[in-house]
Amino acid sequence: MATKTLGIILNGATGRICRTQHIRGGLAQIIAEGGLLVGEDVIMPRLLLAGRNDARLSEVAREFSIKEWTTDLDGALADPDFEVFFDAAATHLRLDTLNRAIDAGKHIYTEKPIAPSVAEGLELMRRADEKELYHGAVEDKLFLPGFRKLRNLVEKGFLGRVIGFRLEFGWWVFDGIDAESQRPSWNYTAAGGGGLLSDMHPHWRYVIEGILGPITRVACSAWTAQPERIDEQGKRYDVDVEDATATLLELKNGARGAILSSWARRVRGDDLVTFQIDGTGGSAVAGLRKCWAQSAAETPRIEGFNMGPDAETMDFEIDYDSNWIEVDEGAPYKNPYRFGWEGYIHHVVSGKPFPHSLAAGVRDVQLAEASATASDEHSWVELPELT
Ligand SMILES: NC(=O)c1ccc[n+]([C@@H]2O[C@H](COP(=O)([O-])OP(=O)(O)OC[C@H]3O[C@@H](n4cnc5c(N)ncnc54)[C@H](O)[C@@H]3O)[C@@H](O)[C@H]2O)c1
Repeated sequence: MATKTLGIILNGATGRICRTQHIRGGLAQIIAEGGLLVGEDVIMPRLLLAGRNDARLSEVAREFSIKEWTTDLDGALADPDFEVFFDAAATHLRLDTLNRAIDAGKHIYTEKPIAPSVAEGLELMRRADEKELYHGAVEDKLFLPGFRKLRNLVEKGFLGRVIGFRLEFGWWVFDGIDAESQRPSWNYTAAGGGGLLSDMHPHWRYVIEGILGPITRVACSAWTAQPERIDEQGKRYDVDVEDATATLLELKNGARGAILSSWARRVRGDDLVTFQIDGTGGSAVAGLRKCWAQSAAETPRIEGFNMGPDAETMDFEIDYDSNWIEVDEGAPYKNPYRFGWEGYIHHVVSGKPFPHSLAAGVRDVQLAEASATASDEHSWVELPELT
């Protein structure tokens, strides 16, 4: 068994998602465990952090005992010791940065959305394929423990024929006026590549399709709930993108469902994201970590809708949650981003097929784009097969 090094440039290394998930949850763990076994070899990632601010980069490097960082992206791209380029910098820079990495002959792995539009995403993929580069897009949510349990139930046939689903997501993001905002301001401007559809609908495409199968068409309403915010410099700005959305979806298998996604929603209930699927054989609801199921046999006969003549018969005591059983953990916990890194490293090193390629990333963008069109035109929009 030989240990081989795989050089990986991490761009946007000081950003929240790169630092807390890709490094802390994924790559730093692989390194701490002595590398990743791929066939007969152990692959040891060698990380080069890239970004704009030397002091902040060195802070991240120190936190994870990483020895190399740079503010010179062109220099990093020209370095033959680093074969892989990963992008987790701000969204509006992505297309240009990935194109530069492709020009430099790097294999690319990227955060979502992979491009601002389907057309630009397809062109990006064409350029990467032309150079025979290995490419991948982050699709982490399918590996959340709750969603993995939900997928297992669907695959086992527990739900029978799937009839409908409801995916609810979001929490209250303060506008910075009365309380400090907890998300970067670029998320709320078009120039910064913000907007809830391009931020979250790419996730919902692979989550829904990975669990239930192809989406055929969508209708959507997207709006701005909080029109004014205050940025990191304390400056007031106009929000010119949507921060709340309601989407209806039709699936190829006949099921219908909805996504309700919002940055202006107060969380109540099981989790800040819940995905409920109803089928003839049973229903299941997943949050980030947990999943609950109710079989057809356990389904209560609901009779509490009508009020009685007095308080005693108003059914105050009914606990609808009591008919749901928590689904057991199928496998030990692994960080969702680590699944992606392991699969992508296998792909680059051994050529093992990787389902989360740029082709998947473009499909994810397609749902966001179709939903935006549906909202603008107040119409249903088809999701054709992409070629
Ligand atoms: N997979 C997921 O669930 C998930 C979650 C959050 C974010 N993301 C994606 O990750 C990306 C980063 O999001 P984040 O929440 O970490 O944002 P963030 O604002 O915390 O980090 C952005 C990074 O980009 C860098 N950056 C910003 N403007 C730049 C510029 N002009 N030039 C060079 N670098 C610049 C910043 O220094 C920082 O390192 C986004 O594309 C977002 O869509 C994905």
